[in-house]
Amino acid sequence: MQTSRRQFLAGSLSVMGASLYAPSIFSTQWSPRLLTSRDAEVRALLARLTLDEKIGQMTQADQMYLESLDDLQKYHLGSLLNGGDSDPKTGNDFQSWRDMYDHYQARAVATDPRIPLIYGVDAVHGHNNVIGATVFPHNIGLGCTRNAELVEKAARITAKEIRATGINWAFAPCVTVPQDIRWGRTYEGFSESPDVVKTLGEAAVRGLQGAALDNPLSVVACAKHFAGDGGTVFGTGLQRGKGAEHFPLDQGDTRLSDADFRRIHLQGYITTVAAGVATVMPSYSSWNGVKCSANRVLLTEFLKGELGFQGFLISDYAAQKELPGNAKQQIETTINAGMDMVMVPDNYREFIALLKELVNERRAPMSRINDAVTRILRVKFAMGLMDPKRSQLADHGLRNTFGSPDHRAVARQAVRESLVVLKNDGTILPLAKNARLHVAGKCADDIGNQCGGWTVKWQGESGNVTTGTTILTAIRKAVGSDAQVTYSRDGSGAQGASVGIAVIGETPYAEMMGDRTDLNLAAEDVAAVDNLKRAGIPVVVVLVSGRPLVIDDVLPKAGAVVAAWLPGTEGDGVADVLFGAFKPTGKLSFTWPRGSSTSFNLEDPGYQPLFEFGYGLSY
Ligand code: BGC
Ligand code: BGC
Repeated sequence: MQTSRRQFLAGSLSVMGASLYAPSIFSTQWSPRLLTSRDAEVRALLARLTLDEKIGQMTQADQMYLESLDDLQKYHLGSLLNGGDSDPKTGNDFQSWRDMYDHYQARAVATDPRIPLIYGVDAVHGHNNVIGATVFPHNIGLGCTRNAELVEKAARITAKEIRATGINWAFAPCVTVPQDIRWGRTYEGFSESPDVVKTLGEAAVRGLQGAALDNPLSVVACAKHFAGDGGTVFGTGLQRGKGAEHFPLDQGDTRLSDADFRRIHLQGYITTVAAGVATVMPSYSSWNGVKCSANRVLLTEFLKGELGFQGFLISDYAAQKELPGNAKQQIETTINAGMDMVMVPDNYREFIALLKELVNERRAPMSRINDAVTRILRVKFAMGLMDPKRSQLADHGLRNTFGSPDHRAVARQAVRESLVVLKNDGTILPLAKNARLHVAGKCADDIGNQCGGWTVKWQGESGNVTTGTTILTAIRKAVGSDAQVTYSRDGSGAQGASVGIAVIGETPYAEMMGDRTDLNLAAEDVAAVDNLKRAGIPVVVVLVSGRPLVIDDVLPKAGAVVAAWLPGTEGDGVADVLFGAFKPTGKLSFTWPRGSSTSFNLEDPGYQPLFEFGYGLSY
């Protein structure tokens, strides 16, 4: 192991102090101690469980790999998830999701010991897998709002929409602190700055979990990916098989001293644990060559020891398979490092058999199993899952709140507060409502593009993937007359308009596939701007992207540039800023580099940004 306990803890004390103990302005009565308040019942239940039942509690299968419904009972599975592309068998609509949940949960509680499932989903910007959900801006945009109260509110709404489908656990918030924007998960982070991440991450936990976990509108939150997922060194990322795809940053190695690791990458865990986050997901990535899911210092000594984390650790998707050794050794390593529940996600029968062998051979101590199951049951008790009088099925009365106008109004607010005006020559913005506008670009009329990855599909998808308002539709609504607004994807035919609006940027991606070595605009995007320019009109560029892109060449051609990030379903928030119904307040949560410079952060040698961290104009 790379770090001795003493070394690691020694570096810590000075850095932690203030932030951990300073009372938050959102202080509720929630305290992590509440998690343990029913430990007497937990102990009593634990004492009744067989080894098989305990191991079952430590197992999470992806529902799409469930071999038979009977396995829920036969293997005493403690948890199910829907992975990014793991859809209900009947479709991705609300009804299918709710029926799916009820179907599994009803079975899980049908026989002794009647321990309901904790059921997880990647609701990372709203209940985003489900068609028709309110989809909020991805975290990179929320970071630009610097508005913790708003982030808490958005998370509260997300929790409610999740609960409407019955599900009770979100794999969110992601409190990564991305240091290299070429990483495909940059947008999942609130900011490159640990200060922004720790404040907004804490707010998101409060929103998801509410004042108490047993509130029927709360879900269990999960701080991820612990830790240093955003600090990997370029070139150390995942290599899949010989000659296969290589992702330069994702799941790579973060090479930092204890002090720097703590100062940058652990801050979001210090605040979310203090706010009572009930689960934490160790990262696929490594820290100084050791996979986080094998790192006892990090999982057990730091998180459970020093921070006093009382909840449980859920592994990342099949993360144990990336550890050295055979399947059995991999399980041995991660369990002994402190992993409590393993997201298997497919071969759960094998996992259960191997873990049982490890216990019987004393390679996985019974004390470790008991610790893991205590933590899992503790969370289940805190959620009210163990209360016999309470139905664990979905509350059908919540149907009408799902994707409701009220929820969308908050998402719209989040969009307008997340927009960052990077350039505004003269008074081109705000646009006059009586202007004749020509709108162009591949992201102008594409709800899939504006939602990005982790929307309906794991990697996201261009096109009409869910219900919402595209930016083009929002512009038309704002001016109140369709005749005034023309549109062509490539920007042709803009003659006669007084202003052109190019909505350009990225198409959806998520982990792995989103890693890019160069962040240049696509030729199609540059052409759309050029075509508008050719009509002799001023051009407003609206960028839809999961990170800053190379815009040096487009910048001089544009009269105004607005970074809209991945705003989600509520395009109206973009129109609010363009037409001045809302005076922009967004501030960059990431440095915007010059050209293709790879000096991204203040601390990088040669730092010379195009727009500095914190930059943002108003009217
Ligand atoms: C991702 C996690 C996600 C999990 C479950 C993993 O591949 O890294 O962020 O929560 O899958 O879908
Ligand atoms: C799943 C995701 C998961 C990813 C990890 C995908 O097939 O749908 O949930 O994060 O695999 O490799």
